[in-house]
Amino acid sequence: MVLFLANTHKYHPDFVFSMVSANELPYAYNALEPHIDEQTMKLHHGKHYAGYVAKYNAAVEGTAFADLELDEVLANLDGVPEDMRGAVRNNGGGASNHAKFWEWMTPESTSPEGALLDAIQATFDGFEGFQSAFKQAALSQFGSGWAWLVVDGEELRIMSTANQDSPISQGLTPILGLDVWEHAYYKHYGPGRADYIDAWWNVVNWDKVAELYEQATN
Ligand SMILES: [Fe+2]
Repeated sequence: MVLFLANTHKYHPDFVFSMVSANELPYAYNALEPHIDEQTMKLHHGKHYAGYVAKYNAAVEGTAFADLELDEVLANLDGVPEDMRGAVRNNGGGASNHAKFWEWMTPESTSPEGALLDAIQATFDGFEGFQSAFKQAALSQFGSGWAWLVVDGEELRIMSTANQDSPISQGLTPILGLDVWEHAYYKHYGPGRADYIDAWWNVVNWDKVAELYEQATN
């Protein structure tokens, strides 16, 4: 685990802080192969994600925001002073989105069931209709961003955001998200974002999605 030491701006393994710490990957770097390769996961988790966490902590260091939950800050971006809002939005969004993304994937075989599956089928013209619409959202996000399945009130909705913008900042609850930044797939898939999306379905952690759906709708 990498923790940020505020006083020196250096990483220190033994320091526990109230600011955001990088979550460990809940499986091995090679666990999602062949769908997501080991080297991509190492760079994605160890460099990109760690960078967002460190830069977010640097942005909020010495402010009252350092003591708040990250998602609480993202839900109230307008309350962040303008001179640090961009750094919070981009790096806080990156830290939050990726922390969730690691948990939205698993080497275990899972499938949607129960109330979640019922809601998906009722909202999106069946499960295949959902996958097709989600893939379209992921493909049509121009440049870097994310595709999302969110709970909006009580309803499910598919959407995308640019950069590291979080649906949380729009008052929505993300229950599944796909990183379509090139750093998430280019090393293995090249420009083939569609192939990456198709492969990603094999590693989605539907148990986690169901848990988040239940939390968001109860
Ligand atoms: Fe990413």
